[in-house]
Amino acid sequence: MCGITGIVTKNRDDIGALLVMCSRKLTYRGYDSVGVAAVKDGVVDLRKDVGTIDEVDKMLGLSKMRGDRGIAQLRWATYGAPTKVNAQPHFGCTPDFYGAHNGNIHNYAEYRQELIETGHIVRSENDGELCVHAVDKYYEETGDMFEAVRLSTRDLKGAFAFSVGRADEEKIYAVKMGSSLVAGVAKDATIVSSDLPSILPLTNNVVYLRDREMVELTAERVRVFRIEDGKELDREPEISNVDPHAAEKGGYHHFMLKEINEQPKVAQDVMGVLEGSRSEDWLKMIEDSGRKFLVACGSSYNAGIVGTYYFNRLAGTPLVPVIGGQFIPMYGKSLADDSLCILVSQSGETKDIMNVLNLVKETGKGKTLGVVNVIGSTLMFGADAYIPMACGYEVSVPATKTYFSQTIIFAYLAARLGERNGTIDPSEAKEFIRSLAEDLPRLTQQTIDRTGILTKSLAQTLIDVKDLYCLGYGFTDGVAREGALKIKEICYNHCEGMYSSEFKHGPLSIVTDNYPVIFVTTREDSWMVINHINEVRARHGRTIVVGEYEESLSHYVDREGDFLTIPESDILLNPLLDVIPLQMLSYYLSVDLGINPDLPRNLSKTLTVD
Ligand code: BG6
Repeated sequence: MCGITGIVTKNRDDIGALLVMCSRKLTYRGYDSVGVAAVKDGVVDLRKDVGTIDEVDKMLGLSKMRGDRGIAQLRWATYGAPTKVNAQPHFGCTPDFYGAHNGNIHNYAEYRQELIETGHIVRSENDGELCVHAVDKYYEETGDMFEAVRLSTRDLKGAFAFSVGRADEEKIYAVKMGSSLVAGVAKDATIVSSDLPSILPLTNNVVYLRDREMVELTAERVRVFRIEDGKELDREPEISNVDPHAAEKGGYHHFMLKEINEQPKVAQDVMGVLEGSRSEDWLKMIEDSGRKFLVACGSSYNAGIVGTYYFNRLAGTPLVPVIGGQFIPMYGKSLADDSLCILVSQSGETKDIMNVLNLVKETGKGKTLGVVNVIGSTLMFGADAYIPMACGYEVSVPATKTYFSQTIIFAYLAARLGERNGTIDPSEAKEFIRSLAEDLPRLTQQTIDRTGILTKSLAQTLIDVKDLYCLGYGFTDGVAREGALKIKEICYNHCEGMYSSEFKHGPLSIVTDNYPVIFVTTREDSWMVINHINEVRARHGRTIVVGEYEESLSHYVDREGDFLTIPESDILLNPLLDVIPLQMLSYYLSVDLGINPDLPRNLSKTLTVD
């Protein structure tokens, strides 16, 4: 996820200061690299580099740049490492065109090749550059900037928004094609941006945009058009009363809740990456390997556990799940030349994982495939290949959307592998992948909407609970562990996640009257989980259930609110959706306990220590 900001002023000359002030509000959207293109007397001054906006401003004097209009971009790298050349904004073939994008251009590889073959000078590996070249291309054909911007969207596939200008034009344009974009009208300027936070320092006179619309900014006004036919739309500015500070959290009280709510879009974005052409390389790497280890920590490990069940069920392929710190003492000596270590780390910096990466590199035994969110991280650079999780910047220390992205990646890879090795029919694989791409975003939103109220009231009943269990079976083994980890991380309760059939072999002794045990299940495993539920209820424990509604399960909760139901869905989507009620429950319980879930005590977002 990245953040773009475009501003056109009336006879002002401090465009650098304005762009830095406004785009700084988008830091949560990305901090790998930053750039500003400022236009003065028809000449574009473009400065960009790796680092946060303050670092790059200090290095390159971004806020001192002169001009009356310009575009800034904060990058969260997905395509192309965070380097100076991949930073945004970009020029077109010549410095006449300048622009920046947010989102993913899924036909990046093919279109980049096409542009190069038709003579375009493409300088970077960043998909955002292609947006500027697309406009450049159609300007050559039409000689009209408005038409060039409008027509350029025909070449670009994916979910994105971009802003672009021409050195000799006083206007700036922007298109909204699946990524967020909003505009604003101030007394002596107009602005377009990825998010409201960067509009508000300039004005609360906001022009909201919808997908497949484009805007034309002049110093006086914002005009809105339908991209399809160029028809002008009557869209008046509205006064926004969102508090500029709250807006950085998108109006949510905490980043954790914001990031839980970003999961429908994460599902779309990560599927966009997976359905791109690079999946072939990842699948081949897995197929060509012998023993496959899945190595991770924390929430990434729990996502990996979910992945092992998908790999077994859909691809008949065993993955050995290993906690980062365990790998070397447990398997370090058993690596073979054809081993594969799938290193799962949203930060790409967790030292327990880096140790494994270094071991494989030093011994030359096997290969590494990173599953990583922070592009430009050590894991990204160091692994033999990497799968970008395309989640955007996760601010809250407890992982939510990154865990969600990881489970989708494993589900997708397992389906593709199973189709290729004949474990499942191509039709089953295709249907599941379709449901991942088309049904999951909607079902995720429905689950969030549905369980918000349920978990808020359930949390109230757990305020005084200091000890509980969260049990899963089969596919929900990893989900239950993740639910337990969330409660441990941000409620400071002892909540142990474990396998439900194992509970009777000892831990069951903890159960006394009303002792709470959460059971996470799927439609397919509920017949088994009911046995384990009864083992707890026979000893007067309190059972809380997470899963699709089933009459058979509803008999085993004492109050309706103890059944957190997810919408009916393909059985293979159940494990992905089951985590959402647990994320929401831990969030509301944390807030009820007076804890800030974003910054829980003792923890850090990334532990680069052993
Ligand atoms: C912990 C974080 O420090 O590291 C967890 O608090 C995270 O949220 C774990 O899951 C692993 O981090 P990463 O970046 O390797 O996925």
